[in-house]
This record gives sequence, C-alpha cells and structure tokens, in this order.
Amino acid sequence: MIFETHCHLNDDAFKDDLDEVLLRAKNNNVTSMCIIAWDKESSINAINICKKYQDCGINLYPVVGLHPENVKDEEDLELNWLEDLINNNKICAIGEIGLDLYWDKTYLDKQIYFFNKQIQLAKKYDLPIIIHSREATQLTYDILKEHQDVKGIYHCYSGSVEMAKLITNLGYKLGIGGVLTFKNSHLYEVVDALDITSFVTETDCPYLTPAPNRGKRNEPAYLVYIVEKMAEIKKMQIDEISDILYQNAKEILRIRDYEEKN
Ligand code: NI
Repeated sequence: MIFETHCHLNDDAFKDDLDEVLLRAKNNNVTSMCIIAWDKESSINAINICKKYQDCGINLYPVVGLHPENVKDEEDLELNWLEDLINNNKICAIGEIGLDLYWDKTYLDKQIYFFNKQIQLAKKYDLPIIIHSREATQLTYDILKEHQDVKGIYHCYSGSVEMAKLITNLGYKLGIGGVLTFKNSHLYEVVDALDITSFVTETDCPYLTPAPNRGKRNEPAYLVYIVEKMAEIKKMQIDEISDILYQNAKEILRIRDYEEKN
C-alpha cells in the first residue's frame, strides 16, 4: 500500500479525467491520498473532491490552507474563510503553508505573517501541518522551532543532510517525491543518511513528474517509481519499505484521530 501525502487533484490539470487518475492510482496500490490546497478556492475544491469520491476505494483526506505564493492577494488577515472551512468540514491537516523566496521576496513579511497565523490555527484545532519551503530552509526551520507543539510533513524536501536531521528532530517527516529520480538530484544522500522512519511519499502532482515519465503530467499512480527508488537506496524490499512509509504517513497525519471526527 502506498500513501500519497501530497497531490493537487484539485488543480485544473485533472478536471477532465479525475475518475481515470483515481482508478490508475488504485490499480498501482495507492490506497490513501491527501488532496492539498493553496488558496480558498482550491481548499473548497479539495473538500468537495474528497466528498464526491468517498467511495472510490481510496481514502481521501482534504488539506486546506494558504500557500506562501498566494499571500499577495489575501485580504482576510484573520483567515476567517479558512477557520470556517475547518469548523464545518472534516479536515486532515493545514497546508500547504510556509515560505517561498524563489520567485519573489517582496512579500516576505506577509508570508511570515500568514505562516504564523496558520500555525496558530493548527494549534487551535490540533491539526498537523504541511510545509512548503523554497529557498527559505533556515528561516522555515527557525519558525518551526518556535512552535514545537505542532508537527507535520516538510513537503518536497531538497536541503542538506544536516538540515534534514534538524527538521526530523523537531518531529517532522520529510516528503520525498519525483526529484529523487532526477539525475542531477542530491536527494538520494538525504534518503541514504536518515532512517526510513523519517520519510513519507508524495508526488506534488501535476508537478515534478518522476523519471521515466518526465515531461508528462504527474499523477499519484507514479508513486511506484518513488517507492522503487527508495527501496533501491535503502536496500530494502519494496513491500517492506512501502509498509513503513505508509505507517509513517498515517502516524504523522494522525489518521486515527481524523477517522474519529464527526
Ligand atoms: Ni504542492
């Protein structure tokens, strides 16, 4: 069994063939999935898709939140829309939230404000968080360190081995996806150096398609390539490593608590 901890099936890229995408995922042993939002509309879509496809044979978990690249246009400084969604729906986690200094550093203060705001909401509602951090690893780490009562997944980890150890020591799991299969990637060093209990699997689809499908739209079925690559690096059997990675995801996302909610 494979746990897809980070996909954007709420993206327009999937609007025409979501049924087939879910079926291919199921046929490739993907049995649980987090659908991750980036703003208000995608949060509502994540919730709606999880409801609409609740009998598709895959456990679907909505994750709602405001991505750092979307803070620019956010006018609701209290994020009342987000709190309303959390209050009125069964929500698995808050995400993806964090800092992104890759394209634009102009809104750093606003990014930090909304990152902290959503960490506070995670505390208030006792939810895990899904972190997005690009070109901002140290700053992200410093903020997470201030809030050690919150835990979650550090999505699409791409930093050093040393930083990976610091982040996992805070109780976070590192999301490993298609980048692991890229020839120029140093991510294998991180996977090699840390214990397998440090990781969870993700695609970030429709982005970051793994080899051998680079250039195509990514989708959850391609997680098999990630698991294969991890098994190769860790010198483990695929079944064995899949089970551990699945349990890692269930634990950090606190799926048992989620199931008990009304
Ligand atoms: Ni993402």
